[in-house]
Amino acid sequence: ARQHDLDGRRILITAGPTHEDLDPVRYLGNRSTGKMGIALAEAAAARGASVDLILGPTPLSPQGTGINVTHVRTALEMHREALQRWPQATDGILCAAVADYRPETVAPEKIKKTGDGLTLKLVRNPDIAAELGQQKQPGQFLVGFALETENGVENARGKLERKGLDLIVLNSPRVAGAAFGHDTNQIQLIDGNKVTSFELKPKREVADDILDRLPAHPTPSP
Ligand code: C5P
Repeated sequence: ARQHDLDGRRILITAGPTHEDLDPVRYLGNRSTGKMGIALAEAAAARGASVDLILGPTPLSPQGTGINVTHVRTALEMHREALQRWPQATDGILCAAVADYRPETVAPEKIKKTGDGLTLKLVRNPDIAAELGQQKQPGQFLVGFALETENGVENARGKLERKGLDLIVLNSPRVAGAAFGHDTNQIQLIDGNKVTSFELKPKREVADDILDRLPAHPTPSP
């Protein structure tokens, strides 16, 4: 029944971590593997959507047809690629674990150690979700993710409103088998009105639960 329900949709998905360069050989990163976003891309394509996947550094890649993958490393690259594709999308699902900060400067040569410690100066990265939310046109549907260690629903609702999202997926890193690196996830889906809780299940099934919430009648993109 789900096989063609996303025919005609063009879904922008960000996934994976970002790597923020310190010098030619070092970076600051995080433990995202991109599994959830890749599962979303595969599930959406299997249901008929055309998918633009903007994927941070990960050894994993999606299987199947209907997925156009753009590989990026840094938050600034992901930001540029996502903003460029958003006007053509009917829906956006922002799964990436984007670094909040990047080193202020990237050293042109490998940083040498000294007898002292090293202080890094970091600056804020753009919030891709918030910018897409701001540029959202009528008919476009935007989904974000929240990973919270405390006050999950309350913090997730705050992000939903601040970033202009239509739906937010809350996953807790405290649940065994959920979130970073695992093949399973346990989520709550939160919109302005209600919270829906799901069981721990394979990420591909979690992906279908999320895609089931995209609005049924696609509006042509602006
Ligand atoms: O604010 P926080 O990082 O918790 O928000 C998480 C949500 O915002 C996720 O959907 C994530 O992909 C997105 N995000 C983003 N750009 C950032 C930071 C977060 O798109 N710089």
